[in-house]
Amino acid sequence: MQAAYSAIVQGNHGAVAQKGQAIHDSFILEQSLTEQDRRDLKAAVPQKFLQIDQRFHRLAAALAQAGRQKNTREQVDVFNRMTESCVACHSRYVTDRFDGLQDQSLPQGWGHDADSEDRALTHD
Ligand code: HEC
Repeated sequence: MQAAYSAIVQGNHGAVAQKGQAIHDSFILEQSLTEQDRRDLKAAVPQKFLQIDQRFHRLAAALAQAGRQKNTREQVDVFNRMTESCVACHSRYVTDRFDGLQDQSLPQGWGHDADSEDRALTHD
């Protein structure tokens, strides 16, 4: 994320595309899990967690795309959305470690697409 940020503010579009893609590709649910593992994992974590995860995943792809399109405005916008997703997930699921995120009143939309409810669990 830091590398992506640094690339965005320097207008280094190729690096934005590459970092966005790397974030996308390193994502846990996208790693080379077997189909069964993937199902087990999905069954083990809350649906809301998956929604935030998938949102983040789409954003990483969108960042790579904005890099390829050399669109700085879009890169900044997507990066901000990604930060919201990080915080949304941590404040909901990782407050034992990130206790400074507990009791924050964050916007409902953080970590979610407007229409994310339908798409939960359908990501392949
Ligand atoms: C869908 C949920 C989710 C999203 C989105 C998410 N995280 Fe996390 N993150 C976690 C969980 C769960 C842990 C705790 C893992 C653990 O304790 O082993 C964690 C831990 C971390 C840690 C601590 C790692 C460590 O080893 O100490 C950092 C740093 C972190 N996340 C950064 C980010 C950043 C930056 C983003 C956004 C670009 C992000 N996370 C997005 C769920 C998420």
